[in-house]
Amino acid sequence: MKTVNDEMGRMAEEITERIRRFLPSQKGYQKTVAEAMTYSVLNGGKRVRPILMLLTYRAFGGPAAEETSLLDPFLAAIEMIHSYSLVHDDLPAMDNDRFRRGKLTTHAKYGHAMGILAGDGLLNKAFETALCAEETEHTRGRVIPALRILAEKAGVYGMVGGQSVDVEKTGEPMSADELDFVYRLKTGALLEASMQVGAVLAGAAPEAVKEMGEIAMRVGLAFQIQDDILDIAGTTESLGKSVGSDEKNNKTTYVTLYGMRASKEAVENLSDEALTMLAKYPGGMRGKPLAELIASLVGRTV
Ligand code: IPE
Ligand code: IPE
Ligand code: MG
Ligand code: MG
Ligand code: MG
Repeated sequence: MKTVNDEMGRMAEEITERIRRFLPSQKGYQKTVAEAMTYSVLNGGKRVRPILMLLTYRAFGGPAAEETSLLDPFLAAIEMIHSYSLVHDDLPAMDNDRFRRGKLTTHAKYGHAMGILAGDGLLNKAFETALCAEETEHTRGRVIPALRILAEKAGVYGMVGGQSVDVEKTGEPMSADELDFVYRLKTGALLEASMQVGAVLAGAAPEAVKEMGEIAMRVGLAFQIQDDILDIAGTTESLGKSVGSDEKNNKTTYVTLYGMRASKEAVENLSDEALTMLAKYPGGMRGKPLAELIASLVGRTV
């Protein structure tokens, strides 16, 4: 498993164990798709989104006793949605990549049709799973708003919308404005969902949920710019995924538009902004592990 630092590695392992129980059983005539779905989720991955969700939940004082029944289904759901987005992103019709999380991409292992279906299956399974979240008297009324965020941020006004412009503009130049739109949606939206769902399930006030969205957006932009940097500066071995993908596909990225140096500065500035917003936030101290995670993403090499 690729990991940003030891603490994130430990948390990623814990998250993986929590997610495992929601994966489909590999039985019956449809066992190949169930196997491909499981492969796509359990094939490593840093688990950045569920870790962010968990730390935000804890920062807002989400009840520890309800982590298993209320939060865990959402931790699994966000990682299923993210994993499906990667499976489809790697398809020949999109980025056409062969390696992901240190292994063959799902379509390279199971075939193109099964890659499409595993993604479809994971998207549905995400909502089947999140719908299993249980409220108690103390947390009544939190699940539906959290589901609404998850659905919206994954869809046409979120990740899917961003990916659609990303592929439509492949091979053509993109303006700074278009690129910003793509990054906010294709990557920012799922990070927003992660932090906002964590906050909603913990019972945070609406303004705080909104603020978490603003913070997550900056983290998401920084995360995608760093991803672009690593696509050039990293290796397939260290990242576990095909590098040089953007150049191969003639993509406009932050690096092609602004250069490597400005891109690195942007990652630092966006993260600093996010951290400043977090620190000013009342109760920000309780969010300390959250701030540490955001800070550690800046110089990530995986
Ligand atoms: C990769 O996400 C895709 C982007 C949005 C940049 P991650 O870097 O979180 O991938 P995994 O989950 O660790 O494999
Ligand atoms: C990924 O962007 C965004 C998704 C929503 C999947 P990239 O295409 O740059 O992600 P990688 O580099 O393949 O992980
Ligand atoms: Mg892509
Ligand atoms: Mg890609
Ligand atoms: Mg990339």
